[in-house]
Amino acid sequence: MEIIRSIEAFKSFRTGWPSSNTADLCFVPTMGALHSGHLSLVEEARKFSQYVVVSIFVNPTQFGQGEDYEEYPRQMKKDIDQLKNLGVGAVFIPCDNQMYPLGYRTNVLVEKWERRLCGHSRPNHFRGVTTVVLKLFNIVRPTVAFFGQKDAQQAILINRMTEDLNLDVEIFVCPIIREKDGLAISSRNRYLSAQERQAAVVLFRTLNWAIQQVDRGERKVKVLVNEMKKKIKAEPLAHLDYVSIVDPNDLKPILRLNRTALLALAVFIGKTRLIDNTILLPEKSSSVSKESVL
Ligand code: PAJ
Repeated sequence: MEIIRSIEAFKSFRTGWPSSNTADLCFVPTMGALHSGHLSLVEEARKFSQYVVVSIFVNPTQFGQGEDYEEYPRQMKKDIDQLKNLGVGAVFIPCDNQMYPLGYRTNVLVEKWERRLCGHSRPNHFRGVTTVVLKLFNIVRPTVAFFGQKDAQQAILINRMTEDLNLDVEIFVCPIIREKDGLAISSRNRYLSAQERQAAVVLFRTLNWAIQQVDRGERKVKVLVNEMKKKIKAEPLAHLDYVSIVDPNDLKPILRLNRTALLALAVFIGKTRLIDNTILLPEKSSSVSKESVL
């Protein structure tokens, strides 16, 4: 496995790899602190192709003021060891001043959509994400890139950007990997105390409750959302950021569940902000909807 730490070195490595018409080059962008959620994307990529690139870059521009950029877990040696076992061809680990040299001024943003859902409380977050992903796409030049449904809004925005900017990369969205009790696996789960960790299951419990209600025929979004808010408020360590049911095509809120919808929520457990989501399929049994791909 090649470990490449500069953009220049990656570009010259890339010229030795197959072009898109001979084999797929699969790319999994990450911020490291790899867990089984990330590794599931790498495994999926490996099923596609023997040419897999993973990037590890804690992107400063997607963290807001007062957010956890400094504390964000960094465990490079462990990450590299895990990737070696998965048959990854190259790990790209750029540093901040290469990605954002002095004088850097350009950003890409998916207008309006970047302010919906999580964008409301994290105003510049998605601008940072789409910008760094476009930069990484330009450096890595993948034919296929893998993202997790765990960050559903991120995946939707990246899909939009890819179409809008005519990028020659196919986006794959992989299911959410969860702990045994349902908590979506996240690098931020490690911030939780034992008591908070128990309380954090409220996100999954609330999503499941909504799926059951939809199975039983509930179609009114207001009824579902109000009840979900109550369930989260009932957990003393939880503080709701938002719960929304939206059209996954444009992230606009909907009033009635007539077709596939995205149910997304963000909840602070203590100081840690956790997100989760599910797809609601009112036309079908939701037992298949729990982890369906966007
Ligand atoms: P990061 O949080 O490290 O996540 C990297 C990828 O792993 C994302 O596509 C994310 O959705 C996916 N992922 C995280 N937890 C998952 C889980 N429990 N199940 C399935 N997939 C999961 O997302 C980012 O990094 C950054 O925003 C990035 C795209 C790298 C840009 O900086």
